[in-house]
Amino acid sequence: MNIKRLAGTGNPFIIGTDIPNEYFCDREMETAKLIGYITNGNNVVLKAQRRLGKTSLLMHLFKQPEIGGRYNTLMVDIYMTKGESDFIREFSKAFLNAPFTKTEKGKNALNELFPEVRLYANLNLGVFNAGAEAKLRTEYAVTLDKMFAFLEQTDKPNLVVFDEFQTIEEYPEKMSAILRSYVQKMTNTRFVFSGSERHLLASMFNESNKPFFRTALPMELDIIPEATYQAFCSRLFEQRKRHITSEAISFTYDLFTANTYEMQQVMNLAFSFTGEGKTAGIPVIKDCIQGYLLDNDAYYRKLLAQSKSVKERNLLQCLAVESTASELTSQAMISKYNLGGPSSVTSSLKKLTNMKRATVSEIGSGHFRLQDKFFELWLCDAIGILEQKYEMAADTFRKEREALRSLPGRFA
Ligand SMILES: Nc1ncnc2c1ncn2[C@@H]1O[C@H](COP(=O)(O)OP(=O)(O)OP(=O)(O)O)[C@@H](O)[C@H]1O
Ligand SMILES: [Mg+2]
Repeated sequence: MNIKRLAGTGNPFIIGTDIPNEYFCDREMETAKLIGYITNGNNVVLKAQRRLGKTSLLMHLFKQPEIGGRYNTLMVDIYMTKGESDFIREFSKAFLNAPFTKTEKGKNALNELFPEVRLYANLNLGVFNAGAEAKLRTEYAVTLDKMFAFLEQTDKPNLVVFDEFQTIEEYPEKMSAILRSYVQKMTNTRFVFSGSERHLLASMFNESNKPFFRTALPMELDIIPEATYQAFCSRLFEQRKRHITSEAISFTYDLFTANTYEMQQVMNLAFSFTGEGKTAGIPVIKDCIQGYLLDNDAYYRKLLAQSKSVKERNLLQCLAVESTASELTSQAMISKYNLGGPSSVTSSLKKLTNMKRATVSEIGSGHFRLQDKFFELWLCDAIGILEQKYEMAADTFRKEREALRSLPGRFA
């Protein structure tokens, strides 16, 4: 990278999910909608593509006076959980981390009604021997009872977020049915179920034979509108006596198809390379991307090496070149990218989309893209077409939005 990174500027483009209001972009309508749903007694199922900002939005929601001031809030991230014991551990941790159990009164109530909370928060950390854990296993039902009983007696109502909720579908236990029985009984607790596996979440909440059928109102999180993101970036640069061109923001927005995490990452770098009084234009954005790709080269090499067969690697390359691709089993695509045959395309797609933290996402029926846009650019760089990719940024954005429109019930 040919420009020097500036130190100590207090970068306003924050990477993390606990973002102070001043640096939190938009989501006003979504925040208001969530407040309305929850304060009117509804549960919500919040769905979005990966890294669009679900968790950040929910953390932001917790800070709103209508929620943070009136509800006890708990955030339970179950992404890494594999079964009921993990679930209980994460739920216990959320109890201990929640602001309302840190007060004297909250602490006392927790000690009285659910004194084992600390023990459960430490489950699976190797502090128990197998025998002790086997004994605890028989007590999980009692523990869940205690957790929900504790919530039922709080002075204030509660808001519990289960982040990456679709994970419970992979548990060996029938966790959906168990949880459903508690959720429907609660009189003073509302729930937000959030996740990025949209198909899975939709089936959990929309199919009449599933325990969570119609227990929550659906809400889909979309991209931040371009004009809003333009104003946000300009404001943060200008406030610190720096400038950014609207072309540079548009270019980033299109190239990353408005994916919040990736745009914010690039803006964070662009800000850090722009001195006081200076202006970031498209060349700065390209330098930042190049620097990012270089810094993450080893990671992307490894990611590519996970695909052992040439056909699978060709498929990844095809997706990188096309950005959003459909008709992947057509003869034209197969011969253009040397993909083998329709059946090998199908099996590669299955593998690449089914992994946890999938490399490929199906964003509309039959439309696929690489999950990580930086990986897409890294692959294009490796075959020497990064500049062409840059020139096609607006086209990339348009293509993805069209693909998203092919999903029923979407507002892309
Ligand atoms: N409204 C926002 N304003 C500013 N930055 C944001 C906003 N929303 C998200 N971000 C940025 O995007 C990143 C990803 O957001 P977040 O982790 O909330 O997304 P997610 O949808 O929960 O992702 P995952 O699918 O990985 O769970 C955050 O770390 C933050 O840097
Ligand atoms: Mg998240």
